[in-house]
Formats: sequence, structure tokens, C-alpha cells
Amino acid sequence: MQTRCALVGMPGSGKSTVGRQLARRLGLPFIDLDQRLEQQLGTSIRNYFEQHGEQAFRDHESALLAALADEPGGMILSTGGGAVLRPENREALRRSFPHVMYLRASPEEIFRRIKHDRTRPLLQVADPLARLRELYRDRDPLYRETARYVIETGRPTVNTLVNMAMMQL
Ligand code: S3P
Repeated sequence: MQTRCALVGMPGSGKSTVGRQLARRLGLPFIDLDQRLEQQLGTSIRNYFEQHGEQAFRDHESALLAALADEPGGMILSTGGGAVLRPENREALRRSFPHVMYLRASPEEIFRRIKHDRTRPLLQVADPLARLRELYRDRDPLYRETARYVIETGRPTVNTLVNMAMMQL
């Protein structure tokens, strides 16, 4: 059975960076759910949110995740931070990806990393740190429920994080 690994966690937790390098090291395809969605939608996620709202975005996200869950073969999948919100998505991830890893970072650490990033629609608010704390409080239990492993992303370099992920496979 080929390695199927999905990375979950908050926006800015390093899912895409770690996932891409992990895939390269393992010689597996890397799939970034957000990037695929942008290709499908023909616009940026931020634009799509603005025009159609969050629920329409979540419908597309769930449909693509279900399709990838049914796609056979090894892959490293980086999910969007909100992919775990719907129970059917958590179920699809657990069922189809034996290695679901939660890249955990504190809201304060995430804020430091992405405070200048204007591409994340959920953080375009007056107080993004308060928003991140709220999202973290709601989602940390969902990430933990979905993932088989928790990887603490606080201090280690990307390379160390990739090594940590490889050790769990
Ligand atoms: C979202 C996170 C984003 C993207 C969308 C919604 C969220 O992905 O899917 O903007 O709800 O946290 P990243 O986690 O890659 O930023």
C-alpha cells in the first residue's frame, strides 16, 4: 500500500511547506487542496469568498476532498485550515488517509508568521490575533480528532519538521 498522508492544521501552520518537502523526499505527488480549488474555481479563494460566501466555498472544498479520498495511490495532501469543520470531511480524511498529521502551532506563533499576509479571507478583520485565538479554540479539538499524530511546529526548522513527519510513516 502506498503512503497516503494528509496534513491538517491552522492557516499558517506550515502544511503546504512541510507537505511539499515531504512529498519530494518520498517521491510522491503533492496535492495542495487550496491550490486545486483555485484552479477549479478559476479565481483566488479570497475572491471566491467575497463573491459567493464561505458556505459555497465549503461545498467545493468538501466535494474536492471526497474526490481525492476516492483517488487511489500514494499522495501527500495539504488541506485548508477549515477542511476539518464538516464531519463528513473528517470522516473522509480518517478513512482514506492512514497518516493524518496535525501541524500544531499556537495562535500567537501563527500571527507572527502571517500577520502581513493579505490572501487569507478569514483573517481580514480588525483584530486578526483575536480571530486566530477563536479559530484555534474551536478547531484544535477537531484537528486532534482527525489526526493520528500531532507535530509541534513551534521551534523546529522545516527540515526537522519533515524528518519528524517521516518518522511517523
Ligand atoms: C481557511 C484556510 C485557508 C483556505 C480558506 C479557509 C480556513 O487555507 O482554505 O481561506 O478556514 O482556515 P490555509 O489553511 O492553507 O490558509
